[in-house]
Amino acid sequence: MSLNGKVAIVTGASRGIGRQMAIQLARSGAKVAVNYSSSRGKADEVVMTIEQFGGQAAAIQADVSKVSEVEALFSETLERFGRVDILVNNAGILENNAITDVTEEIFDRHFAINVKGTYFACQQAMKHMAKGGTIVNFSTSVSGAMLPTYSVYAATKGAVEQLTRQLAKEFGPKDIVINCIAPGQVSTDLFLNGKSPELVDSFRRMNAFGRLGEPEDIANALELLVSDKARWITGQTIRVNGGFI
Ligand SMILES: NC(=O)c1ccc[n+]([C@@H]2O[C@H](COP(=O)([O-])OP(=O)(O)OC[C@H]3O[C@@H](n4cnc5c(N)ncnc54)[C@H](OP(=O)(O)O)[C@@H]3O)[C@@H](O)[C@H]2O)c1
Repeated sequence: MSLNGKVAIVTGASRGIGRQMAIQLARSGAKVAVNYSSSRGKADEVVMTIEQFGGQAAAIQADVSKVSEVEALFSETLERFGRVDILVNNAGILENNAITDVTEEIFDRHFAINVKGTYFACQQAMKHMAKGGTIVNFSTSVSGAMLPTYSVYAATKGAVEQLTRQLAKEFGPKDIVINCIAPGQVSTDLFLNGKSPELVDSFRRMNAFGRLGEPEDIANALELLVSDKARWITGQTIRVNGGFI
C-alpha cells in the first residue's frame, strides 16, 4: 500500500498505539502530524524515528479537549503539509473507577477528551479534509464486554461509536469514509497503569491467543482501513482484539 502524497493527523501519537500508527502511516509514505498533549520529548522522538527512514512528520501540540486547539492542530498541519487526507482520532484517557468513586471532574474530563475531542476533530475534517479522505475513530472492546469500573470510559466510547455511525452519511457526499477501531487490551500505559501483574495476566487469558495486543496489531488494522480497497466500508466499528469478545 502506498500513501505517497497523503497527509495524516494522528491525535495522541507521542505514545502507545498512536505512536505506532504514526510510524506505520509514515512508512507507507504519508506525511504525519504527530499530535501530543504534554509529552513533547516523546513526540519529537516519534518524528525523529520517522525522519530516520526518510519519512516526513511534525510534532504538533494540542489538547484535543479544547476546540480552539483542535482548530490550531488542523491549521498548523495545513500550513506545514498543505492538505489533510487521513484523521486518526486516537487520543484518549482511561481511569478505572467504581461508580461511587466517579466525580464530576473525572466524568467531564473523560467526555472532553474522548468524545468532544473526537467530535470537533471530525468537524475540522468536514471543513478541511480532501475528497477521498479517511477518518478512523477509537472505541474499545470493553464497550461490548461491559466490565465493572469502566462505566465512564465505556460510555464515552459508546458515544464515539454512535457518532461514527451518525456521521457516515454526512461525510459520504464528500467521498470521505469514517470508521471506528475498537481494540481489546493492548500493552500500553493506558491499559497497564494501575493494574497488578495478576490482573494483567487474567486479561491476557481472555482472548484467543493468550497474549496482550501490541500497538502494531492495531496499527496493522488501521492500514487496512486507510487502503483504497476499503472505500465501501463506512460507519462501522471494527473490534481488533484477538477474539476477546
Ligand atoms: N491500550 C488499550 O488496551 C486500549 C484498548 C482499547 C482502546 N484503546 C484506545 O486506544 C487509544 C490509544 O490508547 P493508548 O493505549 O495508546 O493510550 P496511551 O498509551 O495512554 O497514550 C495516549 C495518547 O493520547 C494522548 N493524549 C491524552 N490526552 C490528550 C489530550 N487531551 N490531547 C491530545 N492528546 C492526548 C497522549 O499524549 P501525551 O503523551 O502528551 O500525554 C498519548 O499520546 C485511546 O483512544 C484508547 O481509549 C486502548
